[in-house]
Amino acid sequence: MNLQKDLIDLLPLGEQAVQELLADAAIQKARLRQNGPDTEFAGRTAALYFEKPSLRTRVTFEVAMNQKGGQALHLDAGSIGIGKRESLADVARNLERWLDVLVCRTYSHELVESLAKLAKIPVINALTDISHPCQALAFGLTAREHRGDLQGLTVVFVGDGNNVARSLAELAALCAMNFVLACPPGFELPESFVRQVVPEFHRRGTRFETIHDPKEAVRGADFLYSDVWVSMGQEGQKGEKVSHFLPYQINSELLEIAGSQALVSHCLPAHRGEEITDLVMDGEKAVCFDEAENRLHAQKAVIRRLFRSTGRL
Ligand code: CP
Ligand code: NVA
Repeated sequence: MNLQKDLIDLLPLGEQAVQELLADAAIQKARLRQNGPDTEFAGRTAALYFEKPSLRTRVTFEVAMNQKGGQALHLDAGSIGIGKRESLADVARNLERWLDVLVCRTYSHELVESLAKLAKIPVINALTDISHPCQALAFGLTAREHRGDLQGLTVVFVGDGNNVARSLAELAALCAMNFVLACPPGFELPESFVRQVVPEFHRRGTRFETIHDPKEAVRGADFLYSDVWVSMGQEGQKGEKVSHFLPYQINSELLEIAGSQALVSHCLPAHRGEEITDLVMDGEKAVCFDEAENRLHAQKAVIRRLFRSTGRL
């Protein structure tokens, strides 16, 4: 992975780069509010290659490019037919001739890694089955806006040890936060990832924990985080999965156990009445829509970083 060219995951970037991204995201947000759109990306083109549905990611990347004077186009994964119509390498060798950045949402994490390796242009992971780094950055910006310095704060992800949980754990490690995954047995983050991330927590004197009892897990949390129980691509497992997750709903009772300091976020889309209740999502502790807005600012910071380090800015 070329850390200067691509954004595939947060952990390899390290603490300083992530802090810089969060700081720049805040600057981008303030600038937009004060001065409106600018032309920093004039003449630059992003393409969005999405194999899965999206509202937030697609809109925020397109708006980010447009607000900064560039353009964005959507690639229809079906009609490109990577590996069917032509090889991945040839697709990459075409795209790099026209584009300045390729934003990818794929099932396979390896596909994004391969595109990054094969294409000379920056590649951004816009969610794979394994991780969702842009979401975690938007959470980081939101958390900072609400709570200031993140060091020592605790985020409890209540649900499946999935792509969003993994990227949040990476962000938490790099921001010296504690991370707790409250999940049913069998739905933990993969052991290989835990082995990789735990030393990052230990180095900063913070903790990574997996706790199966949701009530025990949330006590004292600064942030409760929620996501769907069944991720895109797992729809066939819905019936089997949901029964395990019923005690892991973020509702008023769980929020009260967490304590009055706790804020609640969700990457969205939410399945209201499943992993989170209407009362919590529409309540005063929820910061989900702030986080959705912050996708825009965080992704501008990501594109700026990659454009700068590849001579495009
Ligand atoms: N949170 C998020 O990535 O939303 P979309 O799937 O709608 O892009
Ligand atoms: N874990 C969810 C996140 C959606 C933004 C999924 O992968 O479907």
